[in-house]
Amino acid sequence: MVSHRVTPLASLEYDLSSPQVLLALCYPSGEGCSEKASRLSRIGVEKVLSFGRSELPLAGIRVLGKGHSSVVLAALLEERVVAVKVRRADSKRRSLFREGELLQLTSRAGAAPRPLYWDDEIVIMEAVLGPELRELMEEGLESWAIAEALWAARALDVTNVEHLEINRPWRSVMFSGAHRGAKALIVDYESSSEGCSNVPSLIGGLLPRMGVAVGEDLRELLRRYKAECSLRAFREVEKFIAYLTEQRRFSGSEA
Ligand SMILES: Nc1ncnc2c1ncn2[C@@H]1O[C@H](COP(=O)(O)OP(=O)(O)O)[C@@H](O)[C@H]1O
Ligand SMILES: [Mg+2]
Repeated sequence: MVSHRVTPLASLEYDLSSPQVLLALCYPSGEGCSEKASRLSRIGVEKVLSFGRSELPLAGIRVLGKGHSSVVLAALLEERVVAVKVRRADSKRRSLFREGELLQLTSRAGAAPRPLYWDDEIVIMEAVLGPELRELMEEGLESWAIAEALWAARALDVTNVEHLEINRPWRSVMFSGAHRGAKALIVDYESSSEGCSNVPSLIGGLLPRMGVAVGEDLRELLRRYKAECSLRAFREVEKFIAYLTEQRRFSGSEA
């Protein structure tokens, strides 16, 4: 894992036609690489940055992330650092288009990075350059990070988009920085449905991992929140969680 304190300025830039980028764009099969490179070039992507938490096997390039269905690269678009999510050739998902649409909706509510372009194979969005929740947990999760994650989940609930993996938030909740005041954003809308359950699911996944039991009082607040989906009910939940987590550091694992 690369430290999230490394800045993109310290990274290496690659042309779209370089072997490293071509291999990353069609990972892991090696097919359709140059078609994707020309598409990115038409969209205005200038360079790919070798930057991020993992190194892509064989391609010899660092990436922001590697999921089951995609590779996420850092790139320069109109002199801005952006995240380019490319569908993996071996992905079970047939298209990233719906994810682009969902990102547009949820980013407007402040829950997700803003998408700048999307089609079946590629989503270009704002890059979130701070740590994943998992990485903050390794250092000891502080109450500000829990509060920010809760607000991101609340913003998602307002859109009625239910992120079906938010009960395992380790990689899908990301932060703009590693300090108080940094903002949490939720990525990866592969599995999603409708509803107002992101706040309860996030809490249900996070607290036990931090060694904090979800007691009957909190359960009741969460039931009321789910039924009402109101800001008032959210504030009650927020207050309760702040009371539980204030002045403590949690170092739970992601397993
Ligand atoms: N906008 C982004 N900015 C920075 N890193 C990102 C961004 N989106 C995704 N990532 C990184 O890439 C990883 C994989 O992305 P994800 O959307 O979960 O892909 P998949 O759909 O393949 O599971 C994430 O866990 C995260 O570390
Ligand atoms: Mg994922």
